[in-house]
Amino acid sequence: MKTVFIDCSPKQRLSASGFVATFTRMFVFGRKVQCKLRTPKDFQPIFEEIKDADSIVFCMPLYVDGIPSHILPFLKEMENKFTNKNVYVIANNGFIEGRQNEPLMQNMENFCHRANLNWCGGLGIGGGVMMNVMRIMFCVVCALSLLQVVLNGFDFSLLKDSLDDALVILILCCGIISFDLWLAYCINNGKEYGKHYTRIMLPSFVFIVCADIFFTIISLFQGGIFRGWFSKKKPTM
Ligand SMILES: Cc1cc2nc3c(=O)[nH]c(=O)nc-3n(C[C@H](O)[C@H](O)[C@H](O)COP(=O)(O)O)c2cc1C
Repeated sequence: MKTVFIDCSPKQRLSASGFVATFTRMFVFGRKVQCKLRTPKDFQPIFEEIKDADSIVFCMPLYVDGIPSHILPFLKEMENKFTNKNVYVIANNGFIEGRQNEPLMQNMENFCHRANLNWCGGLGIGGGVMMNVMRIMFCVVCALSLLQVVLNGFDFSLLKDSLDDALVILILCCGIISFDLWLAYCINNGKEYGKHYTRIMLPSFVFIVCADIFFTIISLFQGGIFRGWFSKKKPTM
């Protein structure tokens, strides 16, 4: 069994779609390949991988309530190339409600029917930006705790506070993790998943305040903070 994961985010690094593709891949058995779909140059290598694949998992962000436009030419070419492959979708969006991904799911379902591909369902995740921030926080918490333990002569009792922090992050992500494991189970067994929606387990009023603060800080730095720090290419004025 071969599964091809396609990370459809145009971001070069640190995309939520790439993260969720890597996470799901860990629980899928058999041969698995993860590809990045950003430009038309990526089309052919991905088609080569799909040729002998049983399942394709599109991991994509929601753009303007739909499929990101750079994916459409890929789907158009794919329509006449393959039949009878199982197609799953994992979509994530900026707003907190995962259900906002419903139009994207419908588009992908219609595409599969037209292209004679087996639509096996999809998972819509709300608060994708937050999911991205949390996985970075999780890694930072783990790294700092280990450093603290080493610097204090392997005093493992210091891990307690860090484990509490890690537990909070896991609780906030429990919906995503459980729905994702179920999706991986369906991929492994070639089963239909249906359409499911989940989100970061944060009350909406807290999410809105956090998001407002986050984007205010970003806009104060003209959008350059975080993304700009990692970008090789500096934005032109
Ligand atoms: C051009 C553009 C359009 C977007 N449109 C929506 C939208 O309609 N609804 C929404 O909830 N989020 C929207 N978002 C937010 C993204 O879906 C969100 O940031 C997502 O987590 C990005 O995923 P990625 O890191 O995999 O690229 C949009 C983002 C961009 C850049």
